Amino acid sequence: MALAILSSGGDAPGMNPAIKKFVDYAYKKNQKTYFIYDGLEGLIDNTIKEATHSDVAGIVHEGGTIIRSSRSKRFFEYEYRQQAYQNLQSHGITGLVVLGGDGTFRAMERFSSEFDVNFVGIPSTIDNDIYGTEYCLGVDTALNVIRDALDKIRDTASSFSRAFLVEVMGRDCGYLAIVSAMISGAEVCVIPEKEFEGELLSKRLRDEIKNGRRYVLAIIAEGTKSTSKIHQWLQEDVGLETRVSILGHIQRGGSPTVYDRLMAFDFTIVAVDHLLKKDNANKIVVYQKGEFKLLEIQEVVSNKYLLPQHYLNAINLLD
Ligand code: F6P
Repeated sequence: MALAILSSGGDAPGMNPAIKKFVDYAYKKNQKTYFIYDGLEGLIDNTIKEATHSDVAGIVHEGGTIIRSSRSKRFFEYEYRQQAYQNLQSHGITGLVVLGGDGTFRAMERFSSEFDVNFVGIPSTIDNDIYGTEYCLGVDTALNVIRDALDKIRDTASSFSRAFLVEVMGRDCGYLAIVSAMISGAEVCVIPEKEFEGELLSKRLRDEIKNGRRYVLAIIAEGTKSTSKIHQWLQEDVGLETRVSILGHIQRGGSPTVYDRLMAFDFTIVAVDHLLKKDNANKIVVYQKGEFKLLEIQEVVSNKYLLPQHYLNAINLLD
């Protein structure tokens, strides 16, 4: 019996601690381990190599993923999935841990409905947008990177009478934006899940500016695709000279926080333990109310992650 691990889609801090735990824990359980390099592309191209302890020495503090990642278009074609299956068979791989996000899990669902594969997915994406789990690997580190950037931007904002508009990642999900707005004390937050009430807000901000407010910090989720519209709104309706910062890929990098490392270890242990049971795997490990659970892959990919209501409510309370 041999177990393998791959990372796919956007890399997330916490993938390396998960990879280290995978090798160390599987070894304790007397399992041979393999790395599948370059995500689903590597599964197709057979870049599969046996993993050793020295491969995972000294990686726990590193962001990214030592086994690299990809966004594979080829995997959505049957002939490549067939090739991928043959590669798993040829190495005698009986269980697979998949670190990835929504797109990866969709691909794995297709794969597992056609071939006799046995995998467990670990939600790993800074977007925190996977159905059924309150937490995905990498989110805490990404939020800390954003917090650091916002604290610095606020230093400059408070030295000028200006508005600062900061665009954060998150694909179609506003999680990173709303949490960053809450913890940085931003006055404005625009996310895809909630209609932007520009008129009401500009009136309130103009009143506050009359009463002494000097600057405004606004956070916008990339998924709204309205950064230039909000820029214009801040300048024209609110009436403040505005600078825009798009944080971009720095949000995906950096040494995983303590929380991301601990979560990586726990997610991985649950995943490996499940693969070693005889029952059919093809599940996703999720974290709900302080506990780890396993959900069917079909349930995870056929439902949409919804922001908790108290976060949506918080948008109206920003000040
Ligand atoms: O899913 C993670 C993420 O960083 C999203 O927040 C972002 O929209 C996307 O990946 C960017 O993808 P890429 O690195 O392929 O440009």
